[in-house]
Amino acid sequence: MRKILYLALFCIALNAKTMYIYDEKVTLLEPNSKKSVGIAYEGTPVELISNDGKMATIKINGFLNKDNKSILSLSKDGFVSLLKLYNTTPSQSGIYLVPSDKLTANKDEAWDEVKLYYYDTCSTCHAAHKPKEHQANEWEAYIAAMQDFAKIDDENLARIVRFMQAFASDGDLR
Ligand code: HEC
Repeated sequence: MRKILYLALFCIALNAKTMYIYDEKVTLLEPNSKKSVGIAYEGTPVELISNDGKMATIKINGFLNKDNKSILSLSKDGFVSLLKLYNTTPSQSGIYLVPSDKLTANKDEAWDEVKLYYYDTCSTCHAAHKPKEHQANEWEAYIAAMQDFAKIDDENLARIVRFMQAFASDGDLR
């Protein structure tokens, strides 16, 4: 019995564990200086490197955004911002510290808040359109056209666009 347990733990240790940013925005610290260097957005997939129960060391992989040098995106076409650094261009696979309680292993849980916000905001006039009804490159125009109807500011618009692109018919997290 115990042997099986050790074997199971060993297998878990071999696989880099994927977790997700679990708050609308989470401050990223540089591991050595512990200075705040930027923010990671909700639902961003991260590789867990270590976790002492208070702070977790994570790696975030992505693509540099062509239009905005401070942003790393999930898709090479620039969809779904993962993180934004204040003063430097992010590494395509950067290591950061975040509070342990700002991570979850459950992808759905990590995206739940923005999903609820989307359905609240966008289903008052018509049934909410599901993210998978369109491709990632189509959503921004549809949602921008609804901005005045929905009375949302640019930041909340970007939050919804990010969710719809992540779960679009060709989205990276669908
Ligand atoms: C105040 C009412 C209202 C709200 C709130 C609203 N919509 Fe709409 N939406 C409409 C109307 C009216 C139409 C159909 C006419 C049109 O296309 O302009 C529409 C059409 C659409 C379409 C279909 C467009 C097409 O050409 O097939 C999409 C997609 C859409 N809305 C998405 C959204 C999203 C996303 C939100 C939230 C950000 C939203 N709507 C919030 C009124 C609303």
